[in-house]
Amino acid sequence: MSITLRAVAPTEVDDAIPKMDAVMRRAYKAPSFRAQIGWYAAVQPDGLVVAEDAGEIVGTGCGIAYPDGGFGWIGLIGTEPTHERRGIGALLTERVAEVLAGHGCDAALDASAAGGPLYERIGFTDHGPTRVVAVPRRGTPHPRVLPVGPDDLAAFSAYDAGVFGADRSALLALLVAQYPGRSGLVRGTDGAVVGIVLAQHVTVGPLAADDADTLAELVAFAGALPWNDDARICVPPESGHLDALLALGCVPGRDLRHMRRGVPLLPGRTAAYAGRISLGIG
Ligand SMILES: CC(C)(COP(=O)(O)OP(=O)(O)OC[C@H]1O[C@@H](n2cnc3c(N)ncnc32)[C@H](O)[C@@H]1OP(=O)(O)O)[C@@H](O)C(=O)NCCC(=O)NCCS
Repeated sequence: MSITLRAVAPTEVDDAIPKMDAVMRRAYKAPSFRAQIGWYAAVQPDGLVVAEDAGEIVGTGCGIAYPDGGFGWIGLIGTEPTHERRGIGALLTERVAEVLAGHGCDAALDASAAGGPLYERIGFTDHGPTRVVAVPRRGTPHPRVLPVGPDDLAAFSAYDAGVFGADRSALLALLVAQYPGRSGLVRGTDGAVVGIVLAQHVTVGPLAADDADTLAELVAFAGALPWNDDARICVPPESGHLDALLALGCVPGRDLRHMRRGVPLLPGRTAAYAGRISLGIG
């Protein structure tokens, strides 16, 4: 077996996405990752990496750099089950980390139980659990939660950047457009944004708020929307909102290991951050 690693060229993304998705679905035993791969392809065109065996994709990895924060996220590392335990996962992770380093970024990720030991072996260390909680599917939209129109996008993104520690406006513009009617923000009495929410199809995130009352309103907004599947929030370990979310009726599910290499502290007002966009994006 001779495994080769390569970046997916922007010109072949349309062809590669279904093939990467097929490997991820078999690796993760989950329905589809196409939307997420598409986000990486749109905002980080050099961030898609595949491992191949005789021209067939047998491993995947994605990365997104946040250069103004000095960190990036690694996600969707997956190895075809028939090809596990041959070093492909570690090679993919290192290759994606190299892409991030090229943008001046060290790496962060949220590790599954299967991935944790692998990342540990290549120098990642634990920074606490990222907790996945189920959102109570109830609530009425609160009048303070305003829909995010085109004129609000800049304020929505600026608030997110302050909390997350890096600008993600291009990605957020994509997401707000992709999920019409499912994003909201709250403004304080002086008009400044004090909280944001975006409800995707499964995950509520980004979710961030200055205080517990605002958080409750944003969660009620999300809970009142129509959902095909269970709605979940991926709560970062630095979040100060976990207890408030549990008090609102969010039910704890699985934990992931939040791990980083070369990022002792994340920038941003991390205590205000309640829900990641996704485990692979941050
Ligand atoms: C987690 C995952 C990516 C690992 O992929 P992989 O290609 O098997 O990864 P590696 O081969 O680099 O490492 C896996 C193990 O094989 C061992 N290994 C590596 N090369 C080996 C070899 N030649 N012979 C024997 N064992 C080997 C590693 O030491 C490692 O062991 P450890 O986990 O006890 O440290 C894969 O199992 C997967 O896709 N899982 C489902 C999706 C998932 O959870 N992804 C991670 C999300 S964070």
